[in-house]
Amino acid sequence: MKKLSKEEIGKLGLYEFQAYIGAMNSPTFGGWKGTNRLIELLKINEIKKPKILEAGCSTGYITRYIAKRFNCEITGIDLGDLVLEIAHEETQKLNLTNVIFQTANVESLPFPDNSFDIVFGEAITALVPNPIKVLKEYKRILKPHGKIATLDLFMKESLSEELVEEISKIMSAVIGTPIRIRTFQEWEQIFTESGFNGIKIDDYYDDIFKRSYSFGDLVKIMFKMLYHMIVNKEMRKKLSPTLKFSRKFQETIKEGHFGYLIFMGTK
Ligand SMILES: C[S@@+](CC[C@H](N)C(=O)[O-])C[C@H]1O[C@@H](n2cnc3c(N)ncnc32)[C@H](O)[C@@H]1O
Repeated sequence: MKKLSKEEIGKLGLYEFQAYIGAMNSPTFGGWKGTNRLIELLKINEIKKPKILEAGCSTGYITRYIAKRFNCEITGIDLGDLVLEIAHEETQKLNLTNVIFQTANVESLPFPDNSFDIVFGEAITALVPNPIKVLKEYKRILKPHGKIATLDLFMKESLSEELVEEISKIMSAVIGTPIRIRTFQEWEQIFTESGFNGIKIDDYYDDIFKRSYSFGDLVKIMFKMLYHMIVNKEMRKKLSPTLKFSRKFQETIKEGHFGYLIFMGTK
């Protein structure tokens, strides 16, 4: 990936900046353990050469993981051009031929009806303003009896209304679109309204937010983040609420107010 100028870096969104400094390299909410749970539930190897869509693939770490493990054709989509550029480069290094990356918005997917055997997405459905609309898009592009699986953050009832408001506000500012943190019950309702069959919320898990950085990676990421915050006023303005959010979020996680859930359904 080419080196960006200070101005170009200042214009990056939060996800793109994280990818640029090497911080988007493993699954968000449940780490690889969460991804493995999701893969196990999908029973990918029971379908002959499935066509799979990964929504919100970022730099494609989960896409490549699945492409290497299964005889499948997998498409990773994301909004950001920069994350997909990194995704392409990393995939070429591995000579994987069963992976495609494409810029696309989950709210309006550029695929015909009935075209995928499996659609899955981690840490994406909770980060869009209208998850029912997105789930209906997933359903539209799935083949009959195709499978959906999503892994997303939810809050427990124990979180005070004041904190819900504050965290939702900061998260919306960070993501750049208005979103609301939801409870398990609210998610159950959303999944029911999405119109999938055989709906099942696998369970929920407390081991959230486990990005697997090596010690060396972590030092490099922290250094790059601090550096860009010091030299780049635009990035400083964007990152300050993120860091504030991150501290508050980590505190509330430690207090046990959040979990992630895996939703499954079929068309
Ligand atoms: C929190 S990251 C999750 C990345 C990865 N799935 C994971 O679990 O680690 C969310 C990703 O979804 C992408 N995204 C956000 N809104 C999107 C949309 N409407 N359509 C497609 N991708 C979107 C972002 O660009 C970002 O790369």
